[in-house]
Amino acid sequence: MTNFELYARELAWPVDWTAVYHRTAPLLVEIGFGGGHFLAELAQQRPEANVLGVEIARPAIRRGLKKLQTAGVSNGRVLQASAEYLLWACCAPGVVSEVFINFPDPWPKGKQTHRRLINPRFLALLAARLPAGGRLHIATDVADYAHAIATDLAQSLHFESVYETPFVTEVDGRLPNGRVRTKYEQLALAAGATCHYFTWQRNDTPAAHEFPIPQETPMPHAILHSPLSLPEIADRFTPLHDTAGEIHIRLPMLFKSQQEHLLLVEAYINEEPISQRVGLLLKQRADGHYLIGLSEMGFPRPTPGVQLAIACLARWLMTLHIDTAVSHHNLPYSLDPSSVTRKP
Ligand SMILES: C[S@@+](CC[C@H](N)C(=O)[O-])C[C@H]1O[C@@H](n2cnc3c(N)ncnc32)[C@H](O)[C@@H]1O
Repeated sequence: MTNFELYARELAWPVDWTAVYHRTAPLLVEIGFGGGHFLAELAQQRPEANVLGVEIARPAIRRGLKKLQTAGVSNGRVLQASAEYLLWACCAPGVVSEVFINFPDPWPKGKQTHRRLINPRFLALLAARLPAGGRLHIATDVADYAHAIATDLAQSLHFESVYETPFVTEVDGRLPNGRVRTKYEQLALAAGATCHYFTWQRNDTPAAHEFPIPQETPMPHAILHSPLSLPEIADRFTPLHDTAGEIHIRLPMLFKSQQEHLLLVEAYINEEPISQRVGLLLKQRADGHYLIGLSEMGFPRPTPGVQLAIACLARWLMTLHIDTAVSHHNLPYSLDPSSVTRKP
């Protein structure tokens, strides 16, 4: 039986889509498929293509899975992840043939518009992943969003409308052929709204930004010795944070284990397009040295952000006692305690 769901933690960066679908075929991506009706229909209408729906919401994933199963297709898959993560981390340049974005969240209030999915940076990411001739289809019933998208696309050097106008509407009588209506589309039309349909094609101008595929690092760790005991270290913990370039980390809490010789530090790591909440272990080894490493809890990925979090914890440990010293580490950072940043 086909397993229609892909799991983000199991996917390599970038993904080998031929291995996932057991064949080489154009990859069509629907972003934010909601009800999954359009996704299943797309998989049925385009049997020659590999079809992938990406959604952040778990209930939508469940609906999408059901729709694909009922449709009896073998070329559809769903992934719970953000579109940004899928495109940036999982898709090598040129592997996505077509992208469909139906009725993206409108974020209508002035203060919320910065949350909208489609903006110049997202278009730059799409430009870095679609090949020349690749297509971007967008539908929205929100007039000011439609006009903002039209402006952003017109200003992008990488896309051209396949119509003479930036978008078409049913009012124009030029609705894209063969379109299946989504749930939001039906609700919008029932409420008397006008839907705007875009189809833009990627030209051959090279992408302006690369959006490099993230890299996993060797398992990061640091070994230190300190005259302080583990309970003394735990008692002195204060929340830590640090930044290196585009990487931001926060270590807000420390937990004492029931086991002796072990502390767990919670770490939030943001390094676009990846956000991870991981556990860092501070373990006292049999020789008395302290090992700082990554807990396996939650299947974390070792990344430059994890390296920074371990460096931050190690630097903090260095500040606690003058006789603390580093015996070994594999981090690309100095563990000089003067570089520690404490939360105010
Ligand atoms: C307004 S609904 C539209 C659903 C469906 N496309 C339709 O037309 O009925 C927007 C959907 O996009 C999903 N979404 C929002 N931001 C997303 C992101 N960054 N990546 C993937 N999905 C996202 C939401 O969970 C939601 O299901």
